[in-house]
Amino acid sequence: MRCVRLASETDLDGWREAARGLLAEGCPPSNTCFLTRAAPGGLFEGEAPPAPVPAGFSLSVPRAFMDLAASVALHRSVDRFDLLYRLLWRLQRERTLLHIVSDRDVADAMERAKNVSRASHKMKAFVRFRRVEDAAGERWIAWFEPAHRVLERTAPFFQRRFTTMRWTILTPDGTADWDGERLTFGPAATKDQAPEGDDVEEFWKTYYASTFNPARLKTKMMQSEMPRRYWANLPEASLIPELVARAAVREEAMVSAPATPANPRLSRATAPAVERAADTTAAPVSLSDLEAAVQACRRCPLWRDATQAVCGKGPSRAPLMIVGEQPGDQEDLAGEPFVGPAGQVLDAALAEAGLDRGRAWVTNAVKHFKHEPRGKRRLHRTPDAGEVEACRWWLDAERAIVKPRLIVTLGATAALGVLGRKIAVTKERGRPIRLDDGAPVLPTVHPSYLLRLPDEATRAAERTRFVDDLRTAKALLETV
Ligand code: URA
Repeated sequence: MRCVRLASETDLDGWREAARGLLAEGCPPSNTCFLTRAAPGGLFEGEAPPAPVPAGFSLSVPRAFMDLAASVALHRSVDRFDLLYRLLWRLQRERTLLHIVSDRDVADAMERAKNVSRASHKMKAFVRFRRVEDAAGERWIAWFEPAHRVLERTAPFFQRRFTTMRWTILTPDGTADWDGERLTFGPAATKDQAPEGDDVEEFWKTYYASTFNPARLKTKMMQSEMPRRYWANLPEASLIPELVARAAVREEAMVSAPATPANPRLSRATAPAVERAADTTAAPVSLSDLEAAVQACRRCPLWRDATQAVCGKGPSRAPLMIVGEQPGDQEDLAGEPFVGPAGQVLDAALAEAGLDRGRAWVTNAVKHFKHEPRGKRRLHRTPDAGEVEACRWWLDAERAIVKPRLIVTLGATAALGVLGRKIAVTKERGRPIRLDDGAPVLPTVHPSYLLRLPDEATRAAERTRFVDDLRTAKALLETV
């Protein structure tokens, strides 16, 4: 048996180098093994690195295989690198092997890659930071035990999400540390290095208890979404047995309770902001509360992939509210609405129509950036009706606080968010529609629509119509 020892548990580069050498030597998988941890001396007689790859030896490896290998290498199974070598060996003779999903090795590798992806997803959902103070001020520390070795893969998500905080994630595989500027990785940690509990723990409990809907309790589903292996480090998990036990009683109470008005505006001035943010039944009553609460929003899954929620901006009693669709790539990073290309088109058109953006509350129907990765870019995806509906809560809260005299909606998603129904924007644009409470809403197109028009003449004509709609808004503002 020919055995090769890798430098670490996730040493994919080392494996790739060794695998090339072994292939060049013609070493079959049945006669090869990869080791990572220290094994007792003499057990692996044939342990030796492969000879240098001869000049001119070339290997063609499909890109899909390297993507698959990058995931499988993070799996905790001991034979993961052996499986990868077997696949690589077979790929040299069976070029389309990866398309045969019924093949045992292919199916096995795909299953392991899926497990790894799931572990990363769970890490994003279940890391719970605790606040500590050190010489430099506030710092957030979390202890987490991922099902697979996904720390390095998942840490950039926390970097994007908590860019302005200093945080450390401790795991049995290693640590990730963000100091506000640099993400670094360190050695394995133990649980006793993590702080035990803090006031944020109460936040999670309050949040979890307030979002727990007994009428929707499906215990099996809940355990697959929030597997028991993570419970030990989740403050809110201590509530689960009791909440489950009380679910039937609470469900009955919910069914027989009188309907509550939408957005009950409870005054909770004395509660800490973080607790108010967790309480999803109480609409915020001030703009600062709103901003804090939006950041804690978990009403739909879009928060998971966004850097932050982007709340509206503007003066607290703006006469005009302008509603877009959702933050774009630049808004997601900056935390402000309409600061990217669409924002520039909007700013210029507002100025031409004689409207002052500085006197408007500018916001979006959906507060988190929905996108999909494409290489290094993040491509915009239109929010679906459920996401728009989930986010109406915030739009209604913004309206209730700002009390604008007129709302301008930009595009179909904004109109859906404000009106609660779909409209044909091209037909209904430029004419006010009344909300149930009589408030006027003026729909028009989204500035990105102008950016997408390929033909210059059409773009100029459509831009004129857009400015005309904004002029109508200005005239309406003077009458309402
Ligand atoms: N598009 C929108 O709808 N909103 C923004 O904030 C930016 C782009």
